[in-house]
Amino acid sequence: MVDIRTSFAGLDLESPIILSSSGLTRNIERTKSFVEAGAGAVILKSLFEEQILMQTGHLIAQNDYPEAEDYIASYVRAEAIEGYLKLIRQAKEELSVPVIASINCTTQGSWVDFAERIRQAGADALEINIMRLETDLYFDPAKAEELYVSIVSSLVGKGLPIIVKLSRYHTNLPVLVDKLRAAGAAAVTLFNRTYQIDIDLSREQLIGGEVFSHAGDFTETLRFTGLIRGLVPEVEISASTGIYTWEEVTKAILAGANTTQMCTAVYKQGATAIREALVGLQRWMVEHGYQSLDEIRGRLSYGSVADPSLFERVQFMKYFSSRQG
Ligand SMILES: Cc1cc2nc3c(=O)[nH]c(=O)nc-3n(C[C@H](O)[C@H](O)[C@H](O)COP(=O)(O)O)c2cc1C
Repeated sequence: MVDIRTSFAGLDLESPIILSSSGLTRNIERTKSFVEAGAGAVILKSLFEEQILMQTGHLIAQNDYPEAEDYIASYVRAEAIEGYLKLIRQAKEELSVPVIASINCTTQGSWVDFAERIRQAGADALEINIMRLETDLYFDPAKAEELYVSIVSSLVGKGLPIIVKLSRYHTNLPVLVDKLRAAGAAAVTLFNRTYQIDIDLSREQLIGGEVFSHAGDFTETLRFTGLIRGLVPEVEISASTGIYTWEEVTKAILAGANTTQMCTAVYKQGATAIREALVGLQRWMVEHGYQSLDEIRGRLSYGSVADPSLFERVQFMKYFSSRQG
């Protein structure tokens, strides 16, 4: 029997597959089936401050009494936060695995406020979903990184391990991850998926795009997992995006991931996706003579392979291509 236990962000996990933050965790009864299938931890859907502010704005717009605006704002906020804390308490009571909360805030004070209340509600760790898209032409790109680091600095050392969930759109991701590590982040999740847009050609209108990831998205997850493992060896990595089967789970761990996250695969196949991925991982480990994940983690990272230039290669130069013609 091979050992697939792993430690991640100071938590002991029975398996390296984590249920990603999404609506899949809205219902704890359903979440239980994913834990029974072998998920080593669950990350609850995010509490979005922006959504609270939008709901507040909507209610205020419909209200005829300006003097009630403060009351509406604090009522909506309190309701949303309390609903989320209730979800954490229920998850902690009913699930046998670590429960990781997730937040996305728009103001520095709220990151700290939400995190403290989430800690009090009993979450085992906090994934901070910082993903931002800058559209201000005068915003200095260096300031964006400073902002990420200052958010992490404001949250560490307060009793909750902090996992930073990042998008892949950064000028120099290894530098940012190293700064986050230095600021005290326990781990990074590579990557979040941005909300996609599309165009409806018949109506000539912008519309929401595909919600789920595609199989091809995994190659960037793999590349950056391997690069970060080699360049920032002290940081723990949760590989995310495009992980559907045992093959991506195994590849991500070989590249250096401590854990892997599944979302799209579970939306599409349910608990079976997790169960089958774990069976496949263990079968592969037996066939290749490995007893534990420690033996395979990072064997094919940027710092371990004989020719790390493959991780760096981004141009389709003919010389490197195996495809003729
Ligand atoms: C319907 C849906 C809802 C999601 N909600 C959240 C969320 O609340 N917070 C978050 O950090 N990520 C959220 N995500 C992103 C996923 O956690 C995950 O990072 C992304 O889908 C890539 O992983 P995948 O390829 O396994 O789907 C959501 C994704 C989907 C498809």
